[in-house]
Amino acid sequence: MDVLGDSHIHQKKGRRLILFPLPLQGHINPMLQLANILYSKGFSITIIHTNFNSPNPSNYPHFTFCSIEDSLSETEASTADLVALLSLLNVQCVVPFRNCLAKLLSNVEEEEKEPIACLITDATWYFTQAVAESLKLSRIVLRTNSVSSFLVFSAFPVLSQKGYFPIRDSQSEAPVPELPPLRVKDIPVVETCYRETLHRLVTEATNQMKVSSGCIWNSLQDLELASLTKFHQDFPIPMFPIGPFHKFFSASSSSLLAHDQTSISWLDKQTPKSVIYVSFGSIAAINETEFLEVAWGLANSKVPFLWVVRPGLVRGAEWIEPLPQGFLETLDGRGHMVKWAPQQEVLAHPATGGFWTHCGWNSTLESICEGVPMICQPCFGDQMVNARYVSDVWKVGLHLERKLERGEVERTIRRVMTEAEGQEIRVRIMILKEKLNLCLIQGGSSYQSLESLISYILSF
Ligand code: UDX
Repeated sequence: MDVLGDSHIHQKKGRRLILFPLPLQGHINPMLQLANILYSKGFSITIIHTNFNSPNPSNYPHFTFCSIEDSLSETEASTADLVALLSLLNVQCVVPFRNCLAKLLSNVEEEEKEPIACLITDATWYFTQAVAESLKLSRIVLRTNSVSSFLVFSAFPVLSQKGYFPIRDSQSEAPVPELPPLRVKDIPVVETCYRETLHRLVTEATNQMKVSSGCIWNSLQDLELASLTKFHQDFPIPMFPIGPFHKFFSASSSSLLAHDQTSISWLDKQTPKSVIYVSFGSIAAINETEFLEVAWGLANSKVPFLWVVRPGLVRGAEWIEPLPQGFLETLDGRGHMVKWAPQQEVLAHPATGGFWTHCGWNSTLESICEGVPMICQPCFGDQMVNARYVSDVWKVGLHLERKLERGEVERTIRRVMTEAEGQEIRVRIMILKEKLNLCLIQGGSSYQSLESLISYILSF
């Protein structure tokens, strides 16, 4: 499929774009994919990045990279409390970012280089709006999460007024009438010692997006039309849903961890659609008890599994040492565990029949686009909303609603992998997959949005 259309044989646009990704895996991947898409359309690309979680410039010889000093100490450079990390970055990067951007702009004048058309930053970098305005540069925002989950974040002030915070366990199953089909437990909370700071971060990012020059979504009209319509009513800025980005360019070159290729050689030995792939993404963590329930649930299901146990997934453990002695031997080759997998390749592999996921937005899109039914295990933030949409709106996965417990895990895996219910889900997700593929080809909604985005950038 030629998703990039005729201009894949790109004509130089004579304009440079400056991109600034948030230094987290789930945000770096879509920003670098967007950079590749825009490069393929003829723009020159400069990436400004922090030292923390820096992308590898040698994977992108066609881009220019500028590193800025984030001044994070060793303890601060951690995703253990995301809210603390993101608010600190939004303070400490102001001066270095401003200096870097000003220098890039003055180089253009002094060295008569191609003009800079605009700045594209992750929405969470809220301070960049004021910097861009002061340097008379337009700023477009990239939102790497789903539109539906963003609308819930933007409703925080209303939810707060109505007394939803702090979330009460006793109310967790109750519906949220303001945001159907969500239940109270789906409100995207993030574990933090700084709840007020979380609300401030969300409000700032939302306000600074509202006054930006536009918003690019890694989403599609055909998947989130109702949410996009609502977004446009509340935020009357130009919007460009041009996703899913990974169908244009894979995320493999922006991976912060090395992909274990034994994932693929192991899958090669399995029968079609027989394997459940398990991964909870790049940030989520579970405790040792939960880890053991996952392990025994997988083992008892008798379904072959490929399980990504990222170092840091199990709190307080280096890797898989909490497993009881002899656990792997009892599996008799039915399970394979790796630290990090080439996820897109795994999902596209004929042996993969299901994905037990935390429902990060990239993982959710990657699974839908390969037609792989999901088991949803959201851990925090937007994942809660994505999971509800997967199970209750698009109906392409089952939700592990209760506490992680081996019996429930075993039953849910069997329902998806071996029972008629799983087969029905597979039929639905294949239909959705086909529908989304059409968005990317000429005449499709994402294709058209990308054309509009390019014309819009050229109008600056
Ligand atoms: C975080 C938040 O958790 C998520 O909710 C938000 O939408 C984005 O930021 P993360 O945990 O990184 O996301 O998950 P996800 O959005 O799914 O992104 C993970 C990326 O890493 C995907 O592109 C996936 O393909 C890749 N990945 C994951 C690998 O390459 N190998 C793996 O083993 C696991």
